[in-house]
Amino acid sequence: MIFEAVQHFFTPAPSYIRKMGYLREAIAIEARAKRCKIAWQPHLDNCKELLINVADKLDPQSNIMILGSGGLHDVPCEALLRNGHNITCVDVVHLPKTVKRYKGFRFITRDVSGLIKPLYETVKTGARVKADPPWELIKTPDLIISLNLLSQLAMKLIEYAEHHGKDLGILFADNVLKAHVDWLKNQNTRVLLISDIYREYRVGGKVVETVASLPDLNLNEPDQSWDWNIAPKGEADKEISIRHKVGAWHF
Ligand SMILES: C[S@@+](CC[C@H](N)C(=O)[O-])C[C@H]1O[C@@H](n2cnc3c(N)ncnc32)[C@H](O)[C@@H]1O
Repeated sequence: MIFEAVQHFFTPAPSYIRKMGYLREAIAIEARAKRCKIAWQPHLDNCKELLINVADKLDPQSNIMILGSGGLHDVPCEALLRNGHNITCVDVVHLPKTVKRYKGFRFITRDVSGLIKPLYETVKTGARVKADPPWELIKTPDLIISLNLLSQLAMKLIEYAEHHGKDLGILFADNVLKAHVDWLKNQNTRVLLISDIYREYRVGGKVVETVASLPDLNLNEPDQSWDWNIAPKGEADKEISIRHKVGAWHF
C-alpha cells in the first residue's frame, strides 16, 4: 500500500490523468498481476501466442503498434524484438519501470479515445463533451493491436462523470467503444483486436451472473476465444470469483 502510494506520488503524469484515476489503476494492475500470476497465466500466454503468430506473418522490421500496452504483461516482448520489428506502445499511462525495462520499444503516452481531457474540462465547466478529432497516424503501422483495452475505454470516464454528478447519457459507452472499433477498421492495415466480451460471477464453480463487457459492435464471432480467470476467489470477494470470456478478432 505504501509502495503504491509512493509510486503514485513519483510517477510523472498530468493532473487530470491522476485525478481521473488512470495512474492509480495502472499501479493497481501491476499489483493485481503479481497477486493473480497463476490465475492470469493462461490468458497472458494466449495473448502472447496470438501476437507471435500474427507478427510472424509480417516482414522483418515491420512496424507494430500496441494500443493499451500498459505493463506489457500480455506482450511477448523478446519474441517481437527478435524479429527486428519496431514496436510502438501506446497507453494513457506508462509506469517508469516499464519504459526502463523495455528499452527497444517506443512509448507514446496518448488517450486513444480523445475524450479524457475534454471530459475532465467539461466536468469543470458544465459544457457538452466533445472528443478531440480522431487520431490521424502519420505513418500507418503494418499491424495494430488493440490489447485488452476496448472494454476499458469508457469506464473511468463514466466513473469520473458520475462522481461529479454529470450524466453522460445511456449511449455514451456504446459510442466510445464503437468509435474505437471504427477507427481500427479505418486504418487500412492488419489489425488484431483482443478484448473481454462478457464476465461471469461464480460461486462455488456455478455461474450466478453474467454481464456483457461490450455493446453490440457489429463484430463477427471472434476468431479465437478463451477464459480469463481475472479475479479468483479471495481477490475481489471472499466467495465470488470473476471470469472473463476473451475474444480475438483479425481484421
Ligand atoms: C486491462 S489493461 C491492458 C493490459 C496491459 N496490456 C498490460 O499487460 O498491463 C488496459 C490498459 O488500457 C489503458 N487505457 C485505458 N483507457 C485508455 C485510453 N483512453 N487510451 C489509452 N490507453 C488507455 C490503461 O491505462 C491500461 O494500461
